[in-house]
Amino acid sequence: MTGLSNRVAIITGASSGIGRAAALLFAQEGAALVLSGRNAERLAEVVGAIRSAGGTAVALSGDVADAAHHQHLVETAIAEFGGLDIAFNNAGTTGPVGPLPALDLAAWNAVVATNLTSAYLAAKYQLPALQARGGGSLVFTSTFVGYTAGFPGLAAYAASKSGLIGLAQVLASEYGRNGIRVNALLPGATDTPMGRQISDTPEALDFVAGLNALKRIAAPEEIAEAALYLYSPSSSFVTGTAMLVDGGVSINRV
Ligand SMILES: NC(=O)c1ccc[n+]([C@@H]2O[C@H](COP(=O)([O-])OP(=O)(O)OC[C@H]3O[C@@H](n4cnc5c(N)ncnc54)[C@H](OP(=O)(O)O)[C@@H]3O)[C@@H](O)[C@H]2O)c1
Repeated sequence: MTGLSNRVAIITGASSGIGRAAALLFAQEGAALVLSGRNAERLAEVVGAIRSAGGTAVALSGDVADAAHHQHLVETAIAEFGGLDIAFNNAGTTGPVGPLPALDLAAWNAVVATNLTSAYLAAKYQLPALQARGGGSLVFTSTFVGYTAGFPGLAAYAASKSGLIGLAQVLASEYGRNGIRVNALLPGATDTPMGRQISDTPEALDFVAGLNALKRIAAPEEIAEAALYLYSPSSSFVTGTAMLVDGGVSINRV
């Protein structure tokens, strides 16, 4: 498959889970990748796997709450591959899980910085680069939590992640005329280190799987396929949407 050939993509949160699966898939589809995460060793493993399969990728470790990291990612895409077409702004954290009064301000701010301020910073540097290419596609990884369902203990996560939906709507509206599409992707429970952290026992995993109409949780590859759709010509008229890929948790009642 070469659905993304001649495309240059930034993927954040590429060292693990959904971002890692997207990196492997997008590379297979022909994109040249600039990968981001904090853990340099895990990023190097992903770059190694991509190159072994004949793909093209470089990695930059850094924190998505840091403006300089986003600037560096975009500069690297331009310097190494000649521009930027796609960004999967996917890194995220749940932060501490628990009742809101127990959440201190520093923890709240850290979750908002990683999940929401990171998206503002990413877009700030990515949009001019996409405009210079004459168009492109941005996706922010949000979640169903805080959009179609409350989930006890995840106030900062839900508030910051639902903010991404508003951001995607406004940017889609501002940049549609420039050929730039902007969407939010809303996964359901997915089998990644973050997913395992929330469902940390077989009983918890069964409970979470049972909330879904499909009675199972997602593989990270299934979420990566949905992200790929949002970059492909198949989604050429899709912008400003909040796309649920949630196994039916949002509509299921039994
Ligand atoms: N798993 C689920 O059930 C689920 C459901 C809905 C939405 N999501 C969303 O999907 C996205 C990916 O999560 P995942 O499930 O794949 O989790 P994961 O396997 O734990 O991956 C999280 C990724 O985010 C990166 N990251 C976290 N904080 C960062 C920071 N401050 N700076 C840079 N990178 C940072 C991590 O990189 P390092 O560890 O290298 O820093 C890692 O690559 C997240 O936004 C999450 O909220 C997940």
